[in-house]
Amino acid sequence: MTPQHPRTVTKAVIPAAGLGTRFLPATKATPKEMLPVVDKPAIQYVVEESVRAGLDDVLVITGRNKAALEDHFDHHWELEQALEAKGDQFRLARVRESADIKVHFVRQGQPLGLGHAVHVAKEHVGDHPFAVLLGDDLIDGRDHLLEEMVAVREERGGSVIALMEVPPESVGLYGCAAVDGREGDVVRVTGLVEKPDPAEAPSNLAVIGRYVLDPSVFEVLEQTPPGRGGEIQLTDALQTLAGSSEPGGGVHGVVFSGRRYDTGDRLDYLKAVVRLGLDHQELGKDFGQWLDEFVQERLAPEKAFQR
Ligand code: UTP
Repeated sequence: MTPQHPRTVTKAVIPAAGLGTRFLPATKATPKEMLPVVDKPAIQYVVEESVRAGLDDVLVITGRNKAALEDHFDHHWELEQALEAKGDQFRLARVRESADIKVHFVRQGQPLGLGHAVHVAKEHVGDHPFAVLLGDDLIDGRDHLLEEMVAVREERGGSVIALMEVPPESVGLYGCAAVDGREGDVVRVTGLVEKPDPAEAPSNLAVIGRYVLDPSVFEVLEQTPPGRGGEIQLTDALQTLAGSSEPGGGVHGVVFSGRRYDTGDRLDYLKAVVRLGLDHQELGKDFGQWLDEFVQERLAPEKAFQR
């Protein structure tokens, strides 16, 4: 595929300033993006995904609880010295992993919605297309969704969103896309609606937390009034771009069928911990063994009792 639009996507924006109300009280004093998934906070997986896709200029949008996020992506000299003195090179390397990535921070001030959080990145991003990765949305490291989205932007211009088929009754939990002209897993997005009534949803294609946006989105966001829930919705701005024939307008979708977890949702969080725990290099084997025994016990408690 020969790129028609030059490779200019180098920046990633990670909004992490939401209130995380679905996960209270765990998120009262800790951002949900810092909740551990096995042994790393959720946001570290997201930052690593961005760097893997070649987007190593990362801006995190923070809110009130910014300290934990900033500390995580910085050096912890006392800890590093203590590990060095003990000769614990393995843990030392793990502690340094997150500090070695250059992450910038800016505060949102008030959590006025995802669209508002993205607009806060305007100055840092400038006049270039950029990626947005939601800080609580994990895409399995073996799936290359972001790379594919960047390639679609380079070929077709405009903005690109990630879509996932969900059961029709669940579509009201997401932004939902009306689409046409499917070619492989790429579709043209003709309309978007935030958390529709399932009976009125245009499809069962839900918007998930990866975007490659044209910089014209900033101007559109400036004109976008608060929408559902009184928040400035990114979906509303994308709806405007989907219907626009101006330069930078137009929206495509990549239909993703890989592994994805919304770690801001308690049930999905538990699934992420089990799945990534089973895949973990050091813990996976023992955890898997225990999990098999646990499931056997659940299926036939009387046999487990005899053991
Ligand atoms: P969510 O809707 O999942 O976040 O936003 P939330 O509002 O924190 O969640 P609940 O519903 O109260 O549990 C998606 C992403 O956008 C960020 C969140 O941090 C999350 O990564 N966000 C949301 C902001 O950065 N600012 C906002 O004003 C809203």
